Amino acid sequence: MIKPFSYKDGIFSILDQRQLPHEEVWIACTTAERVADAIKTLAVRGAPAIGIAAAYGLALAAPLGRGALEEAAGILLRSRPTAVNLEWALRRVLAAVNSYPGDDLSRAVLLEAQEIWEEEIRANEAMATLGAGLFPDGRRYAVLTHCNAGSLATGGMGTAIGVIRRLHEQGKLERVYMDETRPLLQGARITAYEMKSDGIPATLITDNMAGWLMKLGRIDAVIVGADRIAKNLDAANKIGTYSLAVLADAHHIPFYIAAPKSTFDPYTATGEDIVIEERDEHEVRCFKGVPCAPDVPAFNPAFDVAPHELITAIITQEKIFTPGSSAGTGMS
Ligand code: MRU
Repeated sequence: MIKPFSYKDGIFSILDQRQLPHEEVWIACTTAERVADAIKTLAVRGAPAIGIAAAYGLALAAPLGRGALEEAAGILLRSRPTAVNLEWALRRVLAAVNSYPGDDLSRAVLLEAQEIWEEEIRANEAMATLGAGLFPDGRRYAVLTHCNAGSLATGGMGTAIGVIRRLHEQGKLERVYMDETRPLLQGARITAYEMKSDGIPATLITDNMAGWLMKLGRIDAVIVGADRIAKNLDAANKIGTYSLAVLADAHHIPFYIAAPKSTFDPYTATGEDIVIEERDEHEVRCFKGVPCAPDVPAFNPAFDVAPHELITAIITQEKIFTPGSSAGTGMS
């Protein structure tokens, strides 16, 4: 399975996802600032992956001492606002440092970063199995996904894509339809790349085709990842997710979210409280860097929020929530 990053001897190497699928270019990071820049510019992206990358960013700062570690945490935290995994991982590493028996700061940080990554890998596996269980045996299903919630977004087998991989292993997947995911094409560039490498039957569509495919009866379920899930189970994910939730509801198709516990934010009450990242207008005016519109104002929210009442189920590594029928997680 392709990995979004690796660590060896003080170097955290990030596969530059902006170059995919054409080139596999690795960025060798030796400072937390370099990791923060890679997160900000989407060289590494996807909620769990940016959490893990931030933890390794701290591992690069740790040899410089406690002051540098705290400064690095601030820089990493400011790199992107919407995915809670980033803040969660930073808090977790800093807490581990405080409770580490001994004074080897670098070792304490590195061990915690490794543990976070390993936990995400295990969470993906558990989610895949639980999620595939939502699809009764005895037939194959066509599912629609958006953006990329696969290996390159998680460091493991993926959240939504993990469920899709498990369905495929179990002989229950007819086909995955992949939204291209404008403006930055994570679906076309990254999900399609992962599906092709795995030999999973997959068809690329433009975002505006999803409703028509549902109308034609060609989609059995929608399954996507999440960047932050509020206490009431409203879920932020890549822009376009809200539209899919509304369309799925209108066509009586289940709308599933797969996300690890690190994506649940116990401090945010509802989706209205989630900060939505706004990115540069040129991403909308251009297509793969080439201008496709005159110089008019463009609006570029990177995420939107699916309200909990439109979410049929949220699959985590431990249990499945059914937000349409319950008021919150009980997670704190
Ligand atoms: O802007 P991106 O590419 O970081 O957005 C990623 C998504 O929206 C993913 O669906 C989400 O992070 C879940 S990844 C398991």
